[in-house]
Amino acid sequence: MGYLLTEEKRKELVAAAVAAKAGAYCKYSQFRVGAALLTTDGEIITGANVENASYGLTICAERTAVFTAVTALPAKPRPFAAMAIAADVDPPVSPCGACRQVLAELGTAELEVIMVGADGTTVCRTLGELLPLSFSLSR
Ligand code: THU
Repeated sequence: MGYLLTEEKRKELVAAAVAAKAGAYCKYSQFRVGAALLTTDGEIITGANVENASYGLTICAERTAVFTAVTALPAKPRPFAAMAIAADVDPPVSPCGACRQVLAELGTAELEVIMVGADGTTVCRTLGELLPLSFSLSR
């Protein structure tokens, strides 16, 4: 039972990820990343990367969006339907391994990941393609 992502909603999601870059706190890398997560009832929640002087404490845009969505919208239906990720580079960035596992916790293998480059080009993969055999405690 998949979520039907309309062209209009896809554009809205991509635009939200591009706009979310403005929220990045990236004083060490100067690398802005924005993420926008779509719930199955059509709501969009955004996030950006937040860095730290202790570099390893940096949190990626994708996880900021997922954690914001989970904490701000505890009653929302899950799994999530799609995520767009935007950065000012071509080809577009794809989510790091840690973020893929976090997405796998709250999305299915069908979750659409839309990666958006500086020129607006998109590369799309399902989460299952990006992270086959994700870790799960369910057996
Ligand atoms: N970053 C993200 O926010 N998402 C990604 O998918 C890759 C990397 C951030 C982390 C750090 O603030 C900066 O980009 C450079 O690695």
